[in-house]
Formats: sequence, C-alpha cells, structure tokens
Amino acid sequence: MENIKKNTVIIENIGKILLDTTRPLKERFRALFTLRNIGGELSINCIEKCFADTSALLKHECAYCLGQMQDPLSVPKLESILEDLSEEPIVRHEAAEALAAIGDKRSLPLLKKYLNDSSIEVAETCQLAVRKMEETDMKEMSSENPFQSVDPAVPLPKSSFNSVNELENILLNESESLYKRYQAMFSLRNMNSKEAAISLAKGLCYGSALFKHEVAYVLGQMQNDATVKQLANVLFDETEHEMVRHECAEALGSIATEECISILNRYVKDEKRIVRESCEVALDMCDYENSKEFQYANSLIKAI
Ligand SMILES: [Fe+2]
Ligand SMILES: [Fe+2]
Repeated sequence: MENIKKNTVIIENIGKILLDTTRPLKERFRALFTLRNIGGELSINCIEKCFADTSALLKHECAYCLGQMQDPLSVPKLESILEDLSEEPIVRHEAAEALAAIGDKRSLPLLKKYLNDSSIEVAETCQLAVRKMEETDMKEMSSENPFQSVDPAVPLPKSSFNSVNELENILLNESESLYKRYQAMFSLRNMNSKEAAISLAKGLCYGSALFKHEVAYVLGQMQNDATVKQLANVLFDETEHEMVRHECAEALGSIATEECISILNRYVKDEKRIVRESCEVALDMCDYENSKEFQYANSLIKAI
C-alpha cells in the first residue's frame, strides 16, 4: 500500500514537470520518457494532458510515446488527435502511427477515413498503418528488431533478399510502394552495420517528407557516425520540410559526436520553432550519451 502511494506521488511529480511550461524543454522531454518507461494509467493521463501544449515537437513526441507504450487506454485520445484538423500535421501523423503501433483493429475505420487526408504526411501514415494492421501478426513484429521500437512496417522476410545492395535498390526506388520501401528500410536498420547505415542515408534524398523523416529516425537508432554528414546536410537545407530537418537534428543528438554537437549548436536558434526545439533536445541527448547516466529518462527520478 505504502509503495503504491509512493509511486503515485512520484508519477504525479514527474507529470508536473512534463506539464510545466516554465521548465526547459529538455527537462520536460526527460519527464515524458520517464513516464513512458513507468507506464500505466496515471502516466498515460499525464502524457495526454500535454496535448494542450503549444509545442508541436513536444505533442508529437507524446503521441509517439503513447504508441510505443502500446496501451489501448490511450486509443480514444490518439483518435481524437488524428481527427482534430486544427492540430499540426506532424502531431496527427504521430497519432495515426501510434494507433497502428497499438494495433487495436477497432481503429481501422478511422485510419481509413484519412487515407486521402489533405496533409500528405497524414495520408501516407494512414496508408502504412492500414497496410500494417491488415497484414501483420503483431507478435512477429519485434522478433528481429534489436532496437526495441514498435515500427510502422515489418522488415522483408530474410529469404527475399541477398545483399545490402538489393535492399538499397528497393529503398531508393520511388516507383516502388511506400510500404515496401519502409520494409527495406527496417531490414537495413536491423542489419545494423556501417554499410547498411550508409545505404540508408542515401534515402534522405529520395522520397516524400514522411519517408525521409523515417530514414532519419532509423539513422538515429543506429547511431553510426558514418552518417553525420548526410544528416547534417539535410538540417542545413532550410528549404527541406521541417519534419525531416527535425528528425535529422534528433538523429545527430543520438550519434552525439563532437561534430554533431557543434552542428546542433548552429541551429539551436533556427527560424523554425520545431527545428530549434529539436536541436535543444538533441543537445541534451548528446549530454546524456556522453555522460555516465544509466538511463536518459530515469535520471529524473533521482532528482525528485
Ligand atoms: Fe514520425
Ligand atoms: Fe519526430
């Protein structure tokens, strides 16, 4: 009983940090990831309250975390975010992707409703989500994934390709279906080699904003410093979609070399709010990667 009370107080205190607009964004991010790791109804309630914030970056990360937690309790909130056309496309995209990650088939009619959404990122996300939910047995999903994420597509069967090159050809082929290109992306990611990372980085130049942002996301997971230049070039390009630049900044934050830190420092005052906030959070990720902290998120619990 005592323990339950203590845990409730801890979660409530972390929730207060997440919702406190006077706190630096990096602290609020650490609070969010701590709640994700703790899980449960109370953590979900705190995360859901954060959708009232004005930061698209923070809100989209909330949707991402709810998806990764795979708790059906958050389905109604995520559905309402997808349906709210006044919400930023990146937040609606992440809500749709989260619904697919949770995988409750009752969300399918809603995902189908937005297959042709006026925001291309949302429409493409719903297309992937429907395809994955209609085709995949969720249990198969994480088996070959060394990164413990719930992904928007399953990798290609190992028997269907022989080399990195073959996968690269699918990845870069813009007349191939988006789902299949995503499958090639996750197959390459799971190989987790330098060669595969360099192949993937070529994908930053061939495809829609949604596709390119996902490539940046998996490069962040791989943390291979052979891709720093390619990620930086996208961040430098102010004509590139902000969703792609944001994801490149975060990937650089995960790779966290000296070069990454100096690149991120140059963009921490970018004109686009989501880009500068991503750089701020990414610099905190660099701090974490270069420190001895055991876990990015849980360092907060000690501070409370
Ligand atoms: Fe995303
Ligand atoms: Fe993102």
